[in-house]
Amino acid sequence: MKIRTSLIPVVVTFLSTVLSWPPAASGQEAFPDAPGRDTLILACTQCHSMGKMISAELSADDWEFMVYDMIARGAPVHQEDIEDLTRYLQDNFATDKQ
Ligand code: HEC
Repeated sequence: MKIRTSLIPVVVTFLSTVLSWPPAASGQEAFPDAPGRDTLILACTQCHSMGKMISAELSADDWEFMVYDMIARGAPVHQEDIEDLTRYLQDNFATDKQ
């Protein structure tokens, strides 16, 4: 089989993209490790993806409401984890965070 030399740059580009995936984190992590993170991943990804947290654009007060709203819908969050989870969401995703 004859290798078409014109394809080599294309293949090299493709391979280097695939091999370096995912791209190096640029600065901030979307879901940094902190109290509440495990609860979020376990309880809040059963019905939808974590993308909801990023796209929601909620204020700190709205997040507090949202946690209870989701628990009412069936999110399995223990009473003692509610505070950490709420603070985690507010710290990382509230539109009015300090
Ligand atoms: C029992 C299923 C279920 C679980 C578990 C769940 N959600 Fe939801 N969530 C929904 C539904 C249904 C909606 C509304 C429909 C939609 O937007 O997909 C929603 C929507 C949302 C939205 C978007 C609201 C908006 O205004 O855009 C956010 C944010 C959210 N959920 C956060 C959470 C968090 C935080 C948790 C964990 C505490 C959680 N969800 C767990 C079912 C669930």
